[in-house]
Amino acid sequence: MSAPPPLTADPSTYYDPLHDDPGPGAARCLGLYAKLAAGVSVVTARGEDGPLGMTVSAVTSLSARPPLLLACLRDGSRTLAAVRAHGAFAVHLLREEQHDLADRFANPTASAAERFAGTDLREVLGVPVIAGALAWSVCLVADVRRYGDHHLVVGQAAAVHVGGGRPLLWHDRRFRSLRDLVPEGTG
Ligand SMILES: Cc1cc2nc3c(=O)[nH]c(=O)nc-3n(C[C@H](O)[C@H](O)[C@H](O)COP(=O)(O)O)c2cc1C
Repeated sequence: MSAPPPLTADPSTYYDPLHDDPGPGAARCLGLYAKLAAGVSVVTARGEDGPLGMTVSAVTSLSARPPLLLACLRDGSRTLAAVRAHGAFAVHLLREEQHDLADRFANPTASAAERFAGTDLREVLGVPVIAGALAWSVCLVADVRRYGDHHLVVGQAAAVHVGGGRPLLWHDRRFRSLRDLVPEGTG
């Protein structure tokens, strides 16, 4: 690799490491993302043939006035297509006991019927809502924007329910609980 040109006032030879370096690459960034501790949610939407849903850890509160949430959904997701088509979705923040539900809603080979099997399901504002979550919100789609291989979906909360329990967490590619004691460096 040749040494970068010296810094000069001439913009054509100016070397800007932030923009000119190739960057760390996807694999290293995925390693970094694995260190983000996040709550685990299931996002649902009404599909043409019934309810659809998927497990999502990329859910964030965005604004209180108006109440906005955001979720990052991968390109090609069946749930994302239904969210866009129907213009509404529900976010369910899972309890620590609900890792089986999270596994099912992440399984790419499970049909929608298999994912929802055994759940206590009802409709709120036309959106499928699963009973028993730590908390849930039905949101109207405010914005959808593609960034790389995911879409950022912003929703305005139209209904909210807050239940009880402890959250299910996702960290280092494993489900965790606030009860877990992880000695530093062994996580
Ligand atoms: C713990 C966990 C968190 C996940 N978080 C996300 C996420 O934030 N965004 C996403 O697009 N997929 C996420 N996934 C993967 C989706 O759940 C998976 O691709 C799912 O099969 C998509 O379903 P669909 O294509 O039927 O909509 C996650 C999976 C797991 C196990």
